[in-house]
Amino acid sequence: MRVRPEAPIGMFDSGVGGLTVLHATLVRLPHEDVAYLGDTGRFPYGPRSRDELIAYARELTGILVERGAKVVVVACNSATAAALPTLQRESPVPVLGVVTPEARAAVQATRNRRVGVLATEATVASGRYVEAIHDLDAGVEVVQVACPGLAEAIQGGEPYSERTLELAQAACAPLREAGVDTVVLGCTHYPLIRHMLQRELGAEVQTIAAAEELAEEIAATLARKGWQRDPEHRGAYTFLATGDVEAFRAEGTRFLQLPIGAVEHVDVTG
Ligand code: DGL
Repeated sequence: MRVRPEAPIGMFDSGVGGLTVLHATLVRLPHEDVAYLGDTGRFPYGPRSRDELIAYARELTGILVERGAKVVVVACNSATAAALPTLQRESPVPVLGVVTPEARAAVQATRNRRVGVLATEATVASGRYVEAIHDLDAGVEVVQVACPGLAEAIQGGEPYSERTLELAQAACAPLREAGVDTVVLGCTHYPLIRHMLQRELGAEVQTIAAAEELAEEIAATLARKGWQRDPEHRGAYTFLATGDVEAFRAEGTRFLQLPIGAVEHVDVTG
């Protein structure tokens, strides 16, 4: 497949969480066009099985490749944990995911070699963070906490509510107990409540999120392959959603903190 440098970067998440990655990408790569696809019609991914997540991720990657994406970015930890190797084997373009970039950052950052991971049930069950961290330093103790309902509370319209705070407190308590000095926000939704989580974890704990690490990786991939856009070009970003486009626009604008124009609806199976 011949790749055109003018082609967009394709990016997807189950909803608005990936906008944290989009934001960092727009800042790091202002010349690139980005097409962002939110699978809001099938949100949340956290309680889904591995097979379901592989099927969804495959379908969304196919949509982005069909629209000419030169690389596909899986801006969702649950989908990355379940499906990244499958997507990479099958896709005609490079597929980049989360998990590895944050694992690397966490291993570099920890001083006491005790790292916490907050993630969805699907990501915790996959064991991918433990593997990725141990690939880099087998001596790091990893304490994983699944946070059922937290991404839903964030995306559900009231991200800064008492309900979200209760879930955040329950998630952070075992990490405080375990004495971790570094915590991976292992779901792209969680940086949207970073201040809340940081308060519960304590100011001395370093929190690591995927966005900046992944944006760096996208930049390096494009540079090394010679697929960057002309620096004179001002990058445009466009949106696709599988659920209600107006709801996506409203929530998305709030989280991206940039204007979101028209959102195109795309149909997916199931
Ligand atoms: N933002 C996603 C993740 O990074 C998924 C949250 C969800 O859909 O449950 O895991």
